[in-house]
Amino acid sequence: MGCWDALAIEWEGLKYYKSVFARLIMDPATKAKTSFGQMFRGIVVGAHYEWLTNPKKTSESVVEEVCGKGNYDALKGKVVIITGATNGLGLENARCLLKYGCHVVFAMRNKEKAAKVVAEMQAKETLTGKATFINIQLDDLSTVKPFVQEFLAMNLPLHCLINNAGIMAPPVYRASKQGLESQFAINNMSHYLLTHLLLPKLKETAQTSGEARVVYLGSLAGEACWNIDLDTSVPSGPEFYSDIGDYTSTKCIDMIHARHLHDKHTKDKIFVCAVHPGIINSGLGKDNPGLTAAFYAGSSLKHTHKSQAEGAATTMYCALSPEVPKKSVTEGAWWYYNCQPQRCIGFASKATPEFQEKLEAKCWDLAKERHAAKMAKKGQTGNVHGDKKKMMTKIFMHVMPMMDGMKIFRDQDEMERLMTRAAEDMEDDSMLVLQHDRNGTDIAAVQHVQQIHFWCNFILTRQHCTFHEVGDDDDGGHFDCDGEDGDGPD
Ligand SMILES: NC(=O)c1ccc[n+]([C@@H]2O[C@H](COP(=O)([O-])OP(=O)(O)OC[C@H]3O[C@@H](n4cnc5c(N)ncnc54)[C@H](OP(=O)(O)O)[C@@H]3O)[C@@H](O)[C@H]2O)c1
Repeated sequence: MGCWDALAIEWEGLKYYKSVFARLIMDPATKAKTSFGQMFRGIVVGAHYEWLTNPKKTSESVVEEVCGKGNYDALKGKVVIITGATNGLGLENARCLLKYGCHVVFAMRNKEKAAKVVAEMQAKETLTGKATFINIQLDDLSTVKPFVQEFLAMNLPLHCLINNAGIMAPPVYRASKQGLESQFAINNMSHYLLTHLLLPKLKETAQTSGEARVVYLGSLAGEACWNIDLDTSVPSGPEFYSDIGDYTSTKCIDMIHARHLHDKHTKDKIFVCAVHPGIINSGLGKDNPGLTAAFYAGSSLKHTHKSQAEGAATTMYCALSPEVPKKSVTEGAWWYYNCQPQRCIGFASKATPEFQEKLEAKCWDLAKERHAAKMAKKGQTGNVHGDKKKMMTKIFMHVMPMMDGMKIFRDQDEMERLMTRAAEDMEDDSMLVLQHDRNGTDIAAVQHVQQIHFWCNFILTRQHCTFHEVGDDDDGGHFDCDGEDGDGPD
């Protein structure tokens, strides 16, 4: 690169820093998510601390430590799903796992690219593992369920899910297929849904193999987030979008999801971590030339950069190292970089259990709401689910005394939830998500839903109840029993 080109990059970088600085002072959408102080502590201090304590491990050296150098069959029988394994850090992780015999499932959007990168790797070295490609478009929530179905149909265990794919700070607001801000859709929502749909499989594997793991790619940028407002930033609308602000908040959300799952599932021997890989000049900044110039191509942070192999090391450590379960249990460790647990200093460390629950519920509702939007598009009314729920609740309350039904629910809330799901499950193409509850404690719940169906059908046929589905403008369905309109039998 010529001297003028280098200067042009520095100039671009400076302009970007200046624009971030201005937005940190004046732009409500940026100030709501990150601040100058939090950016300085999270990114500038964090990156220098990371640089000074870099153990210089690589993804491959971590695998060698765990498996034994040259023991290329050590990971035979292990199955790992990696999202975004066709480029950057995910690709380096996939290479090392394949080299040591692992079955790597590439959750990817471009099969030709995936086949090409694997062929290129195979041309350079022997990979004893197996690569499987399954399509997922992380900016289209409706592709998550088919991905999971295809994976489950393979009847394999799942030892580790690596939620790696991500995008960074598109300068202009972009929406996903379901109308969600694109960073939130890709970095958070699709991974949220994917993880929850795969939880039963992870649990099953933990029971049969002793443990399972989930690794989220967080970031020091997530440490730079000081606040997440569930109403305005989850997700941000076009009017409240900030490229850097939303990158920090979506990475922070990934970290909160990881922490939440860690706290909830360590007891099930599912060990969940979030990692900061380092600052690595991969394809991540490609959407934002100014940011690329500032963080990657320019000189300001270059001394702190890691190579791709070094950047992929902590993910490999969290996916494979026998130290991780111990540290999860004894230290409650969930946040890692430089292949060791770190103290989280951003909003993810401050998010209370109540906030975490609310965030989970918000993501869950968004997944369902987007499904409802899909139903409406097919010409069905948006409130049919609600109507069916009402009908089923009434009928079920009626039959409960006969079958001692309340005993199958923990409480009223659970009954409400299962009623909703029973109504939703009546739809032919209801999402798999509706068949697995978000705590993953679902087998009994599915049986309960089947019982509800059974009793509702029974009552409907025996007592001549009818259910009237109503149009959009109506305020809901109602059911008549023995021809009487209104509240139904008491
Ligand atoms: N690099 C860094 O400095 C850095 C720092 C902190 C955290 N991280 C995190 O590390 C993770 C990996 O980053 P990276 O540097 O390896 O990035 P990268 O080189 O840009 O790779 C991103 C991967 O995600 C995939 N992807 C992006 N959008 C997708 C979509 N809509 N559907 C399906 N796949 C999609 C890409 O697929 P294609 O190959 O098809 O494009 C690619 O395989 C990200 O979560 C990032 O936030 C990176």
